[in-house]
Amino acid sequence: MNIRTLLSERIEAALAASLGEPAPAVVQPASKPEFGDYQANGIMGAAKRIRQNPRALAEQVLRHANLDGITAPPEIAGPGFINLRLDDGFLASRITADAALLAATDAPETVVVDYSSPNLAKEMHVGHLRSTIIGDALARILEALGHHVIRQNHVGDWGTQFGMLLTHMTDTGADSGQLKDLETFYREAKRRFDEDPEFAQRSRRTVVALQSGDADARARWQRFIDISLSYCQALYDRLGVTLSRDDVHAESAYNDDLAQVVAVLDQEGLLQVSDGARCVFLEEFTGKDGQPLPVIVQKSDGGYLYATTDLAALRYRAGTLHADRVLYLTDARQALHFRQIFAVARRAGFVPPGMRLEHMPFGAMLGSDGKPFKTREGGVVKLDELLDEAESRAYALVTEKSPELPEAERRQIARTVGIGAVKYADLSKNRTSDYVFDWDQMLALDGNTAPYLQYAYTRIRSVFRRGDVDPETLTGAVQVREPAEHALAVQILRLQEAAEQAAADGFPHYLCSYLFELATQFMRFYEACPILNADDRTRDSRLRLCARAGEALKLGLGLLGIETVERM
Ligand code: ARG
Repeated sequence: MNIRTLLSERIEAALAASLGEPAPAVVQPASKPEFGDYQANGIMGAAKRIRQNPRALAEQVLRHANLDGITAPPEIAGPGFINLRLDDGFLASRITADAALLAATDAPETVVVDYSSPNLAKEMHVGHLRSTIIGDALARILEALGHHVIRQNHVGDWGTQFGMLLTHMTDTGADSGQLKDLETFYREAKRRFDEDPEFAQRSRRTVVALQSGDADARARWQRFIDISLSYCQALYDRLGVTLSRDDVHAESAYNDDLAQVVAVLDQEGLLQVSDGARCVFLEEFTGKDGQPLPVIVQKSDGGYLYATTDLAALRYRAGTLHADRVLYLTDARQALHFRQIFAVARRAGFVPPGMRLEHMPFGAMLGSDGKPFKTREGGVVKLDELLDEAESRAYALVTEKSPELPEAERRQIARTVGIGAVKYADLSKNRTSDYVFDWDQMLALDGNTAPYLQYAYTRIRSVFRRGDVDPETLTGAVQVREPAEHALAVQILRLQEAAEQAAADGFPHYLCSYLFELATQFMRFYEACPILNADDRTRDSRLRLCARAGEALKLGLGLLGIETVERM
């Protein structure tokens, strides 16, 4: 149950009864604990519209509002805010009830999430790491809320670079081992292409052969793609990302549709030829000089572009997948590309009007010097090496904290904590800003970090170990009496709200803030309220509260693709 929605519905019903017309209640979490748990901020706006005194309207609303059994008697504050404090009995019954902390929506949508999507010709880089991590969290959250999620890994597997890569692969007899270092392989091929006209000539012939469906060129290309994809998959598996080979819907999958895309644009009267290239000009897109900006869909040599493929992908996502919503996770530099593609697709009727197209941009990943994240030598950071370092740093952390644990267990914990730290550091920031990759910050045991949350979880588990209690066997009713119990109960029940908001806006950091607050409230409760030494009834109640807190923490971390451990 989404408590915020419940409160909002109740206040809105009362507002409508008072005004004779609907008005938004604007229920939000209280800005300060003294104001209660939530506040309704919509009264002032409504009062202004009908020129009534807001406090008088607030009083009227409260006379109509049916909040019995949900909140304590509400208070009117300041110019007309309504402060809402959830009733302790309500909280206790919600926590006691065996209901899931996360319920599925009654309006499920089909949501395509286009994420990771590296170019297979080159090494996957940190930009794809962000896309992979954020996209996977969104896919998991949407799925947990009952939506039908279709993952689409729109990998770049087509284009002229494959000519030189395949030629270089043939010349060197390169095996899959050499392709593991794709970065170097690509650079070698490129150098030969630039320096050796004969090589460049053969590369161009390979492109032509590939595009005209030559069996041998096709087979070599397929081998290259398979190897490259298998390295991506290994990384996904290591990261605990839910992408599989079945989610790959590569650029090349649209090859046969591209001519049709251009033909339809032509029929719709949207095409213009400019310098021999076929383009769509839309009046809403102009450059700095006020000149219209083209979306080029076919070059003068007949070749198609990134934009053409994306238009074809949209037709597929609308016509075949019947998506209600499509999310694209790429860095912010592609913002214009997507705005243009969405506008052209709508103009051409490739997507129905109700289908929501959302680019979810993110900023760059920066090093601690504030410059783009690179190795000390200025090269591309290999993602595998990055994760190695995360694990070895986490191992040092665990070893310092719990040297008594067996080495194998410490290694196991380090994997979960290290990978979790890298993912959480990315997810917990507002994705639209650049973010500074900082080992010390992400592995800190205090603050809004994965290790802190994982540690809070182990604290909960250790209560049960020390008390020798199986949380499944607790049956008594929960009582909510102390302020720390109240605050913890409210926070546990907010999981639904946090997940729904993250899904609606595409911001996993909402969920991270929720989890950080949950862990903080748990730690406060743990300090303030004795558990195992309390009298039997209180002990049982507090243990159940602990169990529910643990459940929310584990579930919430799981939605982010982060695992928990029993001890650390
Ligand atoms: N391959 C592209 C890149 O590496 C990202 C693709 C994103 N998805 C899309 N449908 N354009 O920049």
